[in-house]
Amino acid sequence: MAFLSESIRKRIEDYIPRYPSKQAVTLPALHIVHDELRCVPRQAIREIAEILGLSSAQVHDTMTFYQFFREEDQKLGKARLWVCRSLACQIRGGEELLNHLCDKLHVQPGGTTPDGKITLEFAECLGACEGAPAVMIDDEHVHNVTNEKADEVINELRGNP
Ligand code: FES
Repeated sequence: MAFLSESIRKRIEDYIPRYPSKQAVTLPALHIVHDELRCVPRQAIREIAEILGLSSAQVHDTMTFYQFFREEDQKLGKARLWVCRSLACQIRGGEELLNHLCDKLHVQPGGTTPDGKITLEFAECLGACEGAPAVMIDDEHVHNVTNEKADEVINELRGNP
């Protein structure tokens, strides 16, 4: 029985005609799986390889080249909260914001809260320097983040009013 759902497999297969080679679909396939499962399990690597006619090692190499993807023993929380620590954000309090979030969530960067709701990460420039300090929640930027604003964001992500 296949590990990847029919819908994940179909989404990967739908990319194939849009790329010059099946190998070029490796990255989009990893993103699809990672978004859906919050990690890329070994069995998923094997099945992506099978769909794309590659070896598992080729898919695994691509996955580990980008430090973005998590393996199954480091599954992401429901939301991934990135805090920028590059220059513009650092000057405007990014480091303090990161420390505040570590204290508030009781995790270190890279860690996930015990309720599985939030993974905290540090990031290099998010491309939102005009809104420093900036954070990103999965794909969405939030600008000019004060500690108070960060607390609101956390409450929302935790589903608290
Ligand atoms: S330095 Fe933080 S978004 Fe650019």
